[in-house]
Amino acid sequence: MLREAWYAVARSEELAPGPIPVRVHGEEWVLFRGADGVASAIGARCPHRGAHLGDGCVAQGEIVCPFHGWRFNREGRCTRVPANRPEEAIPARARVPVRPVMERAGWVWLYTGETPRPLRLFPELEDPEYRRIHFELLWRAHFTRTVENSLDVSHLPFVHADTTGEVDPMVHHLRYGAEGDRLWIHPAPFRRSHPMEPPRPPREDPWSPEEQVEIELWFPNLWIIRAPVAAAAQMCTVLVFTPVDDQTTRIFGACLRNFAQEAALLDEHHLTHTLHVLDEDRRIVESLRPAHAPFDMREEAHVPSDGPAIRFRHLLRKALGRDAR
Ligand code: FES
Ligand SMILES: [Fe+2]
Repeated sequence: MLREAWYAVARSEELAPGPIPVRVHGEEWVLFRGADGVASAIGARCPHRGAHLGDGCVAQGEIVCPFHGWRFNREGRCTRVPANRPEEAIPARARVPVRPVMERAGWVWLYTGETPRPLRLFPELEDPEYRRIHFELLWRAHFTRTVENSLDVSHLPFVHADTTGEVDPMVHHLRYGAEGDRLWIHPAPFRRSHPMEPPRPPREDPWSPEEQVEIELWFPNLWIIRAPVAAAAQMCTVLVFTPVDDQTTRIFGACLRNFAQEAALLDEHHLTHTLHVLDEDRRIVESLRPAHAPFDMREEAHVPSDGPAIRFRHLLRKALGRDAR
């Protein structure tokens, strides 16, 4: 369980003022906005009789439990027990845990550890030159399998035959590398037809090497594919993976482009194409067993084109060791 990470848990625009129930690593949290509009997350279970605070409401910036009306503030402290007479004290145990929350790039992010690291995002996500179209998906698959699939290039002609077209399934000159928590891939030979690549407008002149498609994973859960369209014009798809529990992963996605901001048809093309390709992935990823990608490399067979996914497993093992300390 990777606690020391930021996970997208909701869209900012949904939280008005909440509460919104969310789950990460099987733990239940409730998001809400305080009276000042700032988003917070507190543990979802009421310390009185265990009602779900997500079934309650927000009043004056605090959460009111649906069962006996106890109120909780953003520090997780109970501020009111309606059944108490004035001389009766609020018990010290009437507290719920809290976690750090942040809003960026149109998403609410939750840190599942207690002392947050800075949240680093791909610059395109917050660049006002980029139009951003959000989407969400829920897969019945373990986080590890879901992220690995986004780094797997040899499945393309099989899972995405209709988008990739007839291509040589042999993976030539796969270029990839890892620097710290950043894993990058320059997919080849599917250079101009990676299925997750946003559909680019047709053009006459030949592509130059600088127009190479690039995939990056910022470990553990931020993924991007960048497809240059012309000089300084780029389309990207971002996926943020959130482990809901051992069987479920939520994907917060965004289609981005820094040109033709008003072209509704491009919005629709990019989104429809992305959802189509991801649904092809979902079907296969949900069927994989064991559900969790095994850490023991001897449990599965590997070939050189699996290199990026194996790098991911190494990073994961290292991070889990760090988190356990
Ligand atoms: S269960 Fe929440 S107030 Fe009683
Ligand atoms: Fe795929």
